[in-house]
Amino acid sequence: MCRCWGPYWGWVPCGPTPWLLLSLVCAAPLGMLGEETRQVSMEVISGCPTPQNLLHIRAVGTNSTLHYVWSTLGPPAVVLVATNTTQSVLSVNWSLLLSPDPEGGLMVLPKNSIQFSSALVFTRLLESDSTGVPEGAAQPSGRPYPPYSLAEFSWNNISDSLDRATLSAIFQGHPADDPAGAFANGSLALKVQAFSGSGRPAQPPRLLHTADACQLEVTLAGVSPRGNHSRFGLEVATLGTGPACPTAKELHSIDDEYAPAVFQLDQLLWGSSPSGFMQWRPVAFSQKQRGRDSALSCQASALHPTLAYSLPQSPIVRAFFGSPNNFCAFNLTFGDPTGPGYWDQHYLSWSMLLGVGTPPVDALSPLVLGIMAVALGTPGLVLLGGGLFLLLRHKQYSEYQSIN
Ligand SMILES: *[C@@H]1O[C@H](CO)[C@@H](O)[C@H](O)[C@H]1NC(C)=O
Ligand SMILES: *[C@@H]1O[C@H](CO)[C@@H](O)[C@H](O)[C@H]1NC(C)=O
Ligand SMILES: *[C@@H]1O[C@H](CO)[C@@H](O)[C@H](O)[C@H]1NC(C)=O
Ligand SMILES: *[C@@H]1O[C@H](CO)[C@@H](O)[C@H](O)[C@H]1NC(C)=O
Ligand SMILES: *[C@@H]1O[C@H](CO)[C@@H](O)[C@H](O)[C@H]1NC(C)=O
Ligand SMILES: *[C@@H]1O[C@H](CO)[C@@H](O)[C@H](O)[C@H]1NC(C)=O
Ligand SMILES: *[C@@H]1O[C@H](CO)[C@@H](O)[C@H](O)[C@H]1NC(C)=O
Repeated sequence: MCRCWGPYWGWVPCGPTPWLLLSLVCAAPLGMLGEETRQVSMEVISGCPTPQNLLHIRAVGTNSTLHYVWSTLGPPAVVLVATNTTQSVLSVNWSLLLSPDPEGGLMVLPKNSIQFSSALVFTRLLESDSTGVPEGAAQPSGRPYPPYSLAEFSWNNISDSLDRATLSAIFQGHPADDPAGAFANGSLALKVQAFSGSGRPAQPPRLLHTADACQLEVTLAGVSPRGNHSRFGLEVATLGTGPACPTAKELHSIDDEYAPAVFQLDQLLWGSSPSGFMQWRPVAFSQKQRGRDSALSCQASALHPTLAYSLPQSPIVRAFFGSPNNFCAFNLTFGDPTGPGYWDQHYLSWSMLLGVGTPPVDALSPLVLGIMAVALGTPGLVLLGGGLFLLLRHKQYSEYQSIN
């Protein structure tokens, strides 16, 4: 607490600084109160007669239920469904789901409780050699290698990595056919995590989440790159809203306390509320030890309508939505031609959030608020000090005159 001394006034508080500091610091945690908590269950639904990886996350709130169905049947995909009842259930008809025409094989019942539904499909792992590509060159840049179709990967048994305590599970895969042995010592892993309340993971980029969202962490580790300066990327497809694609939106903040040197938050919004969102910070990491030194940029191409047949098809998406033809796709590319890259440690990780409702947005962190309050307070101090000085001088001057 700062106080100024003046000869005639005794001490006076210095302008608004202490109050500004206090109120701003108090505003931050208050903004995060009142988040809904959810009763989250995670279940692996195994198929008969051929077992398949189908992970059902059911998150029940006071008067709504969210369903996230993740699967590596076909390319890794998730169907997200929000309903306005606590009673909605997932129904799987395996004989339909595994058939060539899977429509109706996946349903959320009762159907009229569905308020929003969409899907994400991770279609391809991209690789390009960025040797000789000037920094900041337009995307896509570098010599592309043939992409790895994620529909042709073989995946581990999700049951082995299911952890109900942390509400997480890991899909780990490698190409079913890998003649060059690039994945001999490596894999692509997709770690899915659900949350029963709001919070923030310990590891950067520390995305703020609510109980309405799931986190996906994509890790490529130990895979032999095909070039000396290979950059990897991910092709992501989603369902459009009518004829239009979801809207991409960038948010900027002066605050980088939770994700060092990253001042941007990228979002994909499916429409007006209640709707879905995908959210990520444009940063990936080239080491397990995530920090400023291992941070890579992450560029997203524009989202544009894409013909369904040009994308690997996801049976769960077709099972739930029929045969949608309003796909939109975009590419994420990780790293710059210069600076740290996958080549350093053969490691890359990137995180995103997928959810329903209003996307969580960071309030300014207490540290930054404190710095701001001090920074804003300093000119106030100077002004007040200057004012006092002038007043005193004036007084002295008039006293001096009166003595004269
Ligand atoms: C995974 O393992 C469990 C038993 O541990 C088994 O019941 C299930 O069918 C397996 N799933 C797959 C996809 O192999
Ligand atoms: C859900 O429940 C809360 C309180 O339990 C209530 O305030 C809110 O209006 C309800 N929402 C809907 C859509 O019914
Ligand atoms: C699954 O779908 C098939 C084909 O439509 C149908 O014959 C069968 O009865 C369904 N099974 C269940 C359990 O609903
Ligand atoms: C859920 O929404 C449907 C229409 O979308 C409505 O008919 C139904 O009454 C709603 N149910 C509840 C419990 O609010
Ligand atoms: C995989 O690891 C083994 C033993 O560590 C090594 O001999 C082999 O060369 C590695 N293969 C590739 C493709 O890196
Ligand atoms: C990688 O670098 C080595 C030595 O610098 C070179 O011989 C080789 O041709 C390069 N490979 C590619 C794919 O550029
Ligand atoms: C993503 O990049 C790959 C390789 O450069 C390209 O074939 C594909 O069309 C791109 N997809 C989108 C949706 O831009």
